[in-house]
Amino acid sequence: MEIYAHRGSSGTHPENTIAAFQEAARLPIQGVELDVHLSKDGELVVIHDEKINRTSKGKGFVKDMTLAELKAFDFGSWFSDDFKGQTIPTLREVLELFADTSHHLNIELKSDMFPYPGMVGKVVALVEEMEFDTRVVLSSFDHESIRAAKQVAPHLETAPLFKEVLVDPLDYMYNVPADALHLYFRTAFRPSIQEALKTGAIIRTYTVNKEKDAEALRDIGVSAIFTDFPEKMIPYAIKKS
Ligand code: G3P
Ligand code: MG
Repeated sequence: MEIYAHRGSSGTHPENTIAAFQEAARLPIQGVELDVHLSKDGELVVIHDEKINRTSKGKGFVKDMTLAELKAFDFGSWFSDDFKGQTIPTLREVLELFADTSHHLNIELKSDMFPYPGMVGKVVALVEEMEFDTRVVLSSFDHESIRAAKQVAPHLETAPLFKEVLVDPLDYMYNVPADALHLYFRTAFRPSIQEALKTGAIIRTYTVNKEKDAEALRDIGVSAIFTDFPEKMIPYAIKKS
């Protein structure tokens, strides 16, 4: 089972910052997950929420601020004074950080609340420019974005995100169309998902922070977990013989 650092190594470092991604880059894990929004001036920025309130001392929507305005805020000290001075990364900055590693990148398109016209095309263009084509998976709760990504870039791996319990999960996946499913981890134990796993489907699950949950997911054949504590999870991803 593979391990993806969720929002970088976000249990020990401020989520979606260069510090969190540097920590993930240091670890012998397979991947990293990050969230992307579009700024007022059309820049791809890495942050989870639509607003900057929770992870900075500022207030307001990402979509209403330019990159220069967003870069003025501190995105580290809400987590700990040790990380004072961390700024919001652009997607380009994060891809540069992983340019010389073997990590796969799960870019989550946060277009479910605001549709961010043009965001899919910008992400695809940057992934291609920086030659991440074979080590990226584009995911979203906004399945229209996933369909659009496949239309403009059929060679890139895509995955719809779900919180819900699914029936006929692979029928839905093929219909989007997409290559994998990214699920809330508790739903992976349902019979329909366990059946899908037996056919070799790629199923990754979020957000898995307890060792016993990681072991159970590994034992049913889940492809990967997203975790805030990737270093802690490394021993639990390996199946005991
Ligand atoms: O991509 C997995 C997970 O990140 C989805 O939920 O809210 O943490 O972005 P969220
Ligand atoms: Mg996410």
